[in-house]
Amino acid sequence: MQLHYNVASPFVRKVMAVAIETGLAERIEPVKRLPSPVAPVAEVNADNPLGKIPCLLTDDGMALYDSRVICEYLDSLHHGPRMFPPSGAARWTALRRQALADGIMDAGVLARYETFVRPQEARWEAWIDNQKQKFRRGLDALEHEGASLGVVDIGTLAIACALGYLDFRYPDEDWRAGRPRLAAWLEQFAQRPAIAQTAPQEVW
Ligand code: BEZ
Repeated sequence: MQLHYNVASPFVRKVMAVAIETGLAERIEPVKRLPSPVAPVAEVNADNPLGKIPCLLTDDGMALYDSRVICEYLDSLHHGPRMFPPSGAARWTALRRQALADGIMDAGVLARYETFVRPQEARWEAWIDNQKQKFRRGLDALEHEGASLGVVDIGTLAIACALGYLDFRYPDEDWRAGRPRLAAWLEQFAQRPAIAQTAPQEVW
């Protein structure tokens, strides 16, 4: 399989974390891509009309996107512990947590683009502030879940990737302040190879 990817994207990180947890990482050939909202990449567009990474090309010729679909596809390819609980409260909790973590990533990435991609004179501070408020509310909600994050599934992997992205792009945010349970949880969880081996790196 091939994966359109880059090592700064938290959504790509989530896919690679699932690949490592499920023992599939060796089967994925990463292909580095740097699309941005104003600089599409033709090779990505050819496989994902939305022009976004991650996009997985499967061995039987499918192009899969977005990260949620790719993660669930990978989870269908192995016989170990499921990253997507099959049913019941565990499933809905994991999916909701993934949605919350993806929303935190989205807000972080959109605010990042606003400062990194958009020209200085066109920046809209209120818009950036509101993206940051979104991820702060998300973090507060996760702090309340801190004690119940003791599972390894798509929800907790996504949360670790979202927090890692905030550490990477918003070091001044100091999200750990006032959120001790979440901070302690990440310290432990980040020791898993799936998280330890996928830390974001600068690509631009
Ligand atoms: C970043 O550089 O922060 C970034 C790169 C790709 C996707 C998302 C974020």
